[in-house]
Amino acid sequence: MRTQPFEAAIFDLDGVIVDTAKFHYQAWKSLAGELGFDFSERENEQLKGVSRMESLDLLLRVGGITEMPLTRREALANRKNEWYKEYLATLTPADVLPGVRSFLAHLRSCGIRTAIASASKNAPFIMDQVNIRPLFDAIADGNSIVKAKPDPEVFLQAARQLGVAPGACFVFEGAAAGVEGAIRAGMRVVGIGDGQQLARAHLIINSFQQLEPVILLSQITVTGDSGWGVCLNEQ
Ligand code: BG6
Repeated sequence: MRTQPFEAAIFDLDGVIVDTAKFHYQAWKSLAGELGFDFSERENEQLKGVSRMESLDLLLRVGGITEMPLTRREALANRKNEWYKEYLATLTPADVLPGVRSFLAHLRSCGIRTAIASASKNAPFIMDQVNIRPLFDAIADGNSIVKAKPDPEVFLQAARQLGVAPGACFVFEGAAAGVEGAIRAGMRVVGIGDGQQLARAHLIINSFQQLEPVILLSQITVTGDSGWGVCLNEQ
């Protein structure tokens, strides 16, 4: 039985804080088009949370391309990233998804520490574009990790930066690979989005708009093992 109270909340970035998942999809779809095959939103689901090069390999597999020299693969990944960055340059603070800022403010008012755990190398740029750095105490991202989700590395690194034990963290994740990684890290997970994709999460919600911050935290407490506690008082 867990006895640690919640001390930290760790957030996926793409598709959870900002809807960049649609930009990833558009850029990958353009690349597939150039390579001469179609790429559906359903196929795109398996790329969520996965590193850039692994995503490329999955995409190529969809197109029936199983062998390609590394230099060519790197060139294609860079090409996709250039398109993706053009989309990212259009982001503004208004693009933070509904309910996210108020939930983060509530967590911080309760003394719960906050971190980003993202597979993306573009995470710092995205955070600056939408001006959310001040809402986080730590950032673990694609620039600081070796193994991408579903490996637990990014979550464990975020917890380490916060100085909080993994068992005292809960994670907000939008991708199946991330849900798996958080579970392997020994953390509790709230899935944000499609219930079928995120079925392994301890709790699933559509968006942060679905529940008031206080209610969401109480839901997590109810869903968590006994012994997990959380501050419900707003300051
Ligand atoms: C994850 C996304 O957050 O970051 C993946 O869910 C993406 O779709 C991965 O492939 C790497 O992102 P980037 O920005 O480094 O290409």
